[in-house]
Amino acid sequence: TTVTLIGAPTDVGASVLGASMGPDALRIAGINRALRALGLEVLDAGNLHGPGNPQALPQQGFRHLDEVVQWNQAVFDATRAALAQGQLPLMMGGDHCLAIGSISAVAAHCRTAARRLKVLWFDAHADANTPETSPSGNIHGMPVACLLGRGPRSLAQLAGATALAAGEIALIGVRSVDPVEKRFVAEHGIEVYDMRTIDELGMRAVMQAALAGVDEGTHLHVSFDMDAMDPSVAPGVGTDVRGGLTYRETQLCMEMLADCGCLASADLVELNPALDVRNQTAELAVDLLESLFGKSTLMRRR
Ligand code: ARG
Ligand code: MN
Ligand code: MN
Ligand code: MN
Repeated sequence: TTVTLIGAPTDVGASVLGASMGPDALRIAGINRALRALGLEVLDAGNLHGPGNPQALPQQGFRHLDEVVQWNQAVFDATRAALAQGQLPLMMGGDHCLAIGSISAVAAHCRTAARRLKVLWFDAHADANTPETSPSGNIHGMPVACLLGRGPRSLAQLAGATALAAGEIALIGVRSVDPVEKRFVAEHGIEVYDMRTIDELGMRAVMQAALAGVDEGTHLHVSFDMDAMDPSVAPGVGTDVRGGLTYRETQLCMEMLADCGCLASADLVELNPALDVRNQTAELAVDLLESLFGKSTLMRRR
């Protein structure tokens, strides 16, 4: 497979500026070289283009809805095109609102190809707010709700239909959920492995549960928000929450995902170089992506 790097340099979905520099920080950390060293063919499609950040106040519960829609249409088209060519798109954000575009494209692709879909969403947050429940109006706090069909038509029906059924997504690493957002998660019966569950069961059991039923017939999409990790190892994020995934836990996740062999698309989002320390969070991201794409310490029997 060819891995296609798609840069989406924007922070229109966030209130903290800087995630727009994420794609270049990943390039500087050597994402292309690292994946090539694993024997993969890598195509850097460059950066998408879209409107600047107006830094406006929320209107009707949203900040920058028009700008978010334009960026997501560009992400949707690029992701759809890469999948149609049999490539594995890796969307480099940018803030997490962009996963509306990438995952809507993945869902549309799976419907035409009659493939099952599973999305693993690594995040400190549930990103399941709606304009009515959002405390901030920031659309990067809403993509899970939009993908499940709740939110403005222009995002919740980006591809003309609801992207996901509740059983097609699992959230991992969650530790910050807004009061009304909790109700959304419960009412939709979303599969959530919060930090308490990870503490109690351990990451191996959590990943086994999250990957149950994922097989050769499944398109696996990983949407990785860098704030899933503990801020002590990943300081370069705009909405950090203490008590996150350790380096070792996350490595194990990535290795188990690689072993399952079903990865077909991914997002790496919320990397904020303006808040980072000597690009260490970007370097960490590249380190994790290497494991996700099959790097292992020893030769292992599958
Ligand atoms: N729950 C908060 C909100 O809705 C924070 C969301 C953070 N999301 C993210 N993708 N970092 O504003
Ligand atoms: Mn496919
Ligand atoms: Mn997120
Ligand atoms: Mn988050």
